[in-house]
Amino acid sequence: ECKDVDIEKGQLSEYHGFWIPTWSLEGVMASQKQFQARDTDILLVTPPKVGTTWLKAILFALVNRMHHPNLQEHPLLTNLPHALVPILEADMYNKKKVKDLSHASPRLLSTHMPYTLLPTSVKNSTCKIVYVYRNPKDTFVSLWHFMNRVHSTTVSLEEAFDKFCRGMSPFGPYWDHVLSCWKESIDKPARKMIFLKYEEMKEQPTTHLRRLAEFLDCPFSLEEEAKGTVNDILRLCSFDNLSNLEVNKNGRFRIPNHETTLFRQGIDHASFFRQGNTGDWVNYFTPHMTKRLDHIIEEKTYGTGFKF
Ligand code: A3P
Repeated sequence: ECKDVDIEKGQLSEYHGFWIPTWSLEGVMASQKQFQARDTDILLVTPPKVGTTWLKAILFALVNRMHHPNLQEHPLLTNLPHALVPILEADMYNKKKVKDLSHASPRLLSTHMPYTLLPTSVKNSTCKIVYVYRNPKDTFVSLWHFMNRVHSTTVSLEEAFDKFCRGMSPFGPYWDHVLSCWKESIDKPARKMIFLKYEEMKEQPTTHLRRLAEFLDCPFSLEEEAKGTVNDILRLCSFDNLSNLEVNKNGRFRIPNHETTLFRQGIDHASFFRQGNTGDWVNYFTPHMTKRLDHIIEEKTYGTGFKF
């Protein structure tokens, strides 16, 4: 039961080993029960604050590039990326399909659910999973800013950090989110899954965009390469471009009929665009914080073959 107003700001509920924002728990369960995956689906799976918005833009631009050759009239210029790529647990909230998920394939969908919580239909399908992760320290800093902003709170860095380290972040523990997908990719190498790291995308965007296109079976043709399509997409989806668009500066993200105050009032689009850089954590972390988180990450990833 999560009938809104009573939900404390940023409240989390423990659910099968993960901390789910209480407002979205019902949506998580509804999508687990009802969502029917198609083998042609493309599912973006991310913990919050690792570059979801960016990847939504990139995936949308990439997959639909044939339909939107004119970049001056591209849907990304007038829509928040989140409005173009439905979120399973938010859009299926309370058993109401707010957004129509019956559109033509390939459907582009997203979720913050960790692998272990994904609907069985997703696990049983051969849909493609695009998984994004980010340096845990930058993820934390980004999250801290975001949570305080959308909930108009002033939770201190120390308090938020202590919770993050204890795994209590939305869809956390963060490392378990990443590792649950990683383990699946090791156990089932045939599973169609690509891992993208925010820092690597920032460093070598063209390489990773081409890699992503290959993975999605829509590689860039010689003609497109000659035309510069790779860079066109990256420019369109860049932080500078998206964050300066009218829609992203002044819009509010609402989910019609959503029963939570958060989505009825809406989240300002601008809160999804803060800095878009790597390494901002050095401006926030004390040596003690660095030591504590490094130790956790070392312990959790030990023997998994995964490195952040
Ligand atoms: P910072 O808070 O470090 O700036 P998510 O989309 O998963 O919520 O992640 C948000 C983070 O991605 C924020 O990081 C945000 O600024 C950054 N971001 C948003 N759009 C981006 C883009 N087009 N390119 C790079 N980073 C972007």
